[in-house]
Amino acid sequence: MSTETITHDVIIVGAGLAGSWAAMTTSKEGVKDIGVLSKIHPLRSHSGAAQGGIAAAINNIRPVAGTGPRGPLEQIPAGDPTVDSLELHVFDTIKGSDWLGDQDAIEILASDAIDIVYEYEHMGCVFSRTPDGRIAQRRFGGHSVPRACYAADWTGHMLLQTIHEQALRHGVHFYSEWYVLDLIVEENICCGVVAMDILTGEIHTLRAKAVMFGTGGYGRAFKVTTNAHANTGDGVAMAYNAGVPLMDMEFVQFHPTGLYRLGILMTEACRGEGGYLINNKGSRFMENYAPEKMELAPRDLVSRSEQIEINEGRGIGPDGKGIHLDMTHLGREKIEERLPQVLKIAQIFAGVDIIKEPVPIQPTAHYSMGGIPTDVHGQVIADAEGNPVVGFYAAGECACVSVHGANRLGTNSLLEASVFGRRSGYAIAEFIKGGAELHPLPGDPGKHSRQRIERLMDDSIGDKRESTAEIGRELKEMMTNNCGIFRDANGLQSVLNEVKQLQERFQNSRVMDRSHRFNTDMQNALETENLLTFSEVIISGALTRTESRGAHSRTDFPKRDDDNWLKHTIAHKNGDELPILSYKDVNINWEKNPPQERKY
Ligand code: FUM
Repeated sequence: MSTETITHDVIIVGAGLAGSWAAMTTSKEGVKDIGVLSKIHPLRSHSGAAQGGIAAAINNIRPVAGTGPRGPLEQIPAGDPTVDSLELHVFDTIKGSDWLGDQDAIEILASDAIDIVYEYEHMGCVFSRTPDGRIAQRRFGGHSVPRACYAADWTGHMLLQTIHEQALRHGVHFYSEWYVLDLIVEENICCGVVAMDILTGEIHTLRAKAVMFGTGGYGRAFKVTTNAHANTGDGVAMAYNAGVPLMDMEFVQFHPTGLYRLGILMTEACRGEGGYLINNKGSRFMENYAPEKMELAPRDLVSRSEQIEINEGRGIGPDGKGIHLDMTHLGREKIEERLPQVLKIAQIFAGVDIIKEPVPIQPTAHYSMGGIPTDVHGQVIADAEGNPVVGFYAAGECACVSVHGANRLGTNSLLEASVFGRRSGYAIAEFIKGGAELHPLPGDPGKHSRQRIERLMDDSIGDKRESTAEIGRELKEMMTNNCGIFRDANGLQSVLNEVKQLQERFQNSRVMDRSHRFNTDMQNALETENLLTFSEVIISGALTRTESRGAHSRTDFPKRDDDNWLKHTIAHKNGDELPILSYKDVNINWEKNPPQERKY
């Protein structure tokens, strides 16, 4: 393993929507020396897995009936407000967030949404169309009107292809299959990263004037998840290890419809297009939980409702832990046109033809609301006062700006990654053009990464050796059982103790594969170490937050408590001890959108 230093003006880690938007925008703004590192091929980034849509109040559904050149025009469904607006998108997002979202950031999200969707269109993104040729929009949970712009159920895939092409066109250099191991921060100034070229196993130091993380979420800390194998929260773990705080990590979203036992996403668009959720009594149980919105209530509420049905013995499947998603009434034509990916996934992975029969699903870990705290320009902040970590930016799921607060609305994720990825690009370009410099690197920046790898390969401990895969398996099981949809003090305390024990056991874990080329055993071990690092932050935040808000549902504290908990959690690493928690005010426009009771 050699250590060679590579230098760029800008290093971006992660090639999904956030990273690629940041890279393309920085380049368009005139800063050309950009390296993007991705541990998988850029087009396999998890942004591509989002299926159902990207939110924007472009108002393409007609309030009145009519006929376009290609047939009848779609109409606003009865009962919905007749027109969409920025104010409505802002309000739905704030309400969805259970008033924990920062309202200044949410206003930017909603207003940049319109422009970014048209920018995608002008770059050639193939959106589905209304009969008269405009970008089609569908309904999604927690949104008052059809607001999701979509490309059948391949929306993330289409957006990712589009932006990747454009980043290449603007001369961005991609390091494909490079795994970043450490973030280098010295005295609150970020000076680069340490990374492994997965092909050769060589360790490199990459120096830069600015580093941006678009490293994605941390759903792989849970047993059943929609998340790709790559989503091991490496970015949040690296930032935390480097002394950067993490914000609101206790808020983890469960998607109501992951394929039963496997977790593969069955898009919310299944319900947006009219699908039903059915228990083992054949009943559409959402009428008992959200009589107005039914299956299109926000995800936290629908997942909790499903879990109650399961816990009370009304689930389906051999272990009773599933729910039926029924789309049989939608008809072949609509399913083939709008949900072709879901049709295939159900066929291949569950042996179910959704045109003819319901498909078993279950609530599934899906999205990380928490992450690396940033301002609205993607600038990472070091503390509750908002002091910057100079030269460090983050956007997308690894970041917490915070537009999603305690619960994200579907389709606001592709949007957030795009909008705040682009804003980070503008901010980075300005920072570099304003005279940013390369900072001196600390003595041996690669030392910590090399030590991690050497320890995992050292076989001198004989029988004491632990399997990293087994530690990872136990962690996911425990996190699901005690830090999942429902939580209480006893369960959280016990999972916290167990995670601490797993961290100790990990010190004795070793890999089987001692080679350097494409050592996936080693990569899995390093990823497991990251899962262990940030899981204690999720649990500590959840244990301390004695209220229920959005996706954080405490059975021992079932009510939202604005008097004590209308605030963001900030967690700083504290050596081997539990994190130090502090709190930050939520940005609220008290005149326009003060906290209200959240009913659907
Ligand atoms: O259900 C979905 O299509 C997922 C979209 C999202 O998480 O925004």
